Amino acid sequence: MEKKIGLVGFSLYLCLTFALGEYYSKTRPFTPKQQVVTNLHFFFHDTLTAPNPSAVLVAKPTLTGGDKDSSPSPFGSLFALDDPLTIRPDPKSKKIGNARGMYVSSGKHVPTLTMYVDFGFTAGKFNGSSIAVFSRNTITEKEREVAVVGGRGRFRMARGVGQLNTYYVNLTSGDAIVEYNVTLYHY
Ligand SMILES: *[C@@H]1O[C@H](CO)[C@@H](O)[C@H](O)[C@H]1NC(C)=O
Ligand SMILES: *[C@@H]1O[C@H](CO)[C@@H](O)[C@H](O)[C@H]1NC(C)=O
Ligand SMILES: *[C@@H]1O[C@H](CO)[C@@H](O)[C@H](O)[C@H]1NC(C)=O
Repeated sequence: MEKKIGLVGFSLYLCLTFALGEYYSKTRPFTPKQQVVTNLHFFFHDTLTAPNPSAVLVAKPTLTGGDKDSSPSPFGSLFALDDPLTIRPDPKSKKIGNARGMYVSSGKHVPTLTMYVDFGFTAGKFNGSSIAVFSRNTITEKEREVAVVGGRGRFRMARGVGQLNTYYVNLTSGDAIVEYNVTLYHY
């Protein structure tokens, strides 16, 4: 008897699900188009100092035994950013986009910022498109890599990697200019 009720209940559930269109799914074959590769080269300006910071501290932990870590981004601190991207290291050179998102200081021993950042372009043929970086960034290494996990607009379904090179850094304030050389595979 119990089994019967269970079966009736389940059928009713299925009927309702289909009737109400709660969950839709359809899978079909996919023939990949020819992929293309795009290289982007730009400079990222991360400014923490007043009066016009482009990255701001959102939260930081209360360290036991006093706040001994004097680095601009002690372990556990979280920053929000809206950093300009330019064609040359000079902050006054042509602006081609902005990097928006956040990074968290996540290395207990090796200075690391884990980035959750969308790099959007506002000029040229990629105006309106963006790429998503979700990666650790070992900031004290001269040459390092970050993973590009996706994109929007002309960078739909993009995958790739950014090669980073610190052009300028002030270790007291944390202000930095970083050269990005991004290789993207997309359709
Ligand atoms: C970029 O796209 C926006 C929105 O479509 C437009 O307003 C703007 O003029 C474009 N900029 C350039 C430099 O093409
Ligand atoms: C580095 O930043 C500190 C703190 O903001 C500032 O006092 C110093 O002048 C800066 N150094 C350079 C070379 O800009
Ligand atoms: C950027 O990366 C490409 C591909 O890895 C490389 O050929 C090129 O020399 C790099 N350019 C710079 C400025 O690092």
